[in-house]
Amino acid sequence: MNSMEKRLNIGVLVSGSGSNLQSIIDHRESGLLDVNIRVVISNNPDAYALERSKKHEIPSVVIRHSDFRDREDFDRKVIEVLKDYAVELVVLSGFMRVITPAFLHAFPMKIMNIHPALLPAFPGVHAQQRAVEYGVKFSGCTVHFVDEGVDTGPIIIQSVVPVYDDDTEESLAARILKEEHRIYPRAIQFYAEGRIGVTGRKVRIRDSDRTCESALHNPPLAGF
Ligand code: GRF
Repeated sequence: MNSMEKRLNIGVLVSGSGSNLQSIIDHRESGLLDVNIRVVISNNPDAYALERSKKHEIPSVVIRHSDFRDREDFDRKVIEVLKDYAVELVVLSGFMRVITPAFLHAFPMKIMNIHPALLPAFPGVHAQQRAVEYGVKFSGCTVHFVDEGVDTGPIIIQSVVPVYDDDTEESLAARILKEEHRIYPRAIQFYAEGRIGVTGRKVRIRDSDRTCESALHNPPLAGF
């Protein structure tokens, strides 16, 4: 980046462990992700994600949803804090609250989420368990922009993992989480580079290589 160019300011919203936050911090620190992590906001005062932000000297703010009359009031406070920190892109990272239209209007096509399934399959909660129960042979994760639906917004990047016969919810979740840690920073960096264009539901990444030409099979075709 040219020294005159300004880094993108991001704000990360968390509720729990924050392993995706950690991956974003690690990519930032290794220079692969060229953003300022301005603030981490948690609705849960006990979220381990808060320890991670403290350790890396990133400002954090706890906004307890139980302190607010309704979702709108809570979101108004979150928006206020994000604006105070001049946040330009909001990154939902295991944030367990449904956001209101007021939030979407404050940050139109500027809110990203990660979901542990290949959307539009298995939106909502318990995505990994439902993938195992359904018997799909592949699942994965999806980074998408947030719209008014639940996990329905335009898809930015997806990663595919196999589902094996002896998988449990936990073993599949662990395999998917590894990929989450790879694709979320990548999606944020695409955004920071100004390479993301959105037309309707479709996201185009400018100048990205077309390298996914071969098909995946599970179980493998093995010479068939
Ligand atoms: C991840 O599986 C993410 O896809 C989902 O919640 C989990 C959060 O994990 N939205 P972490 O808090 O980033 O460790």
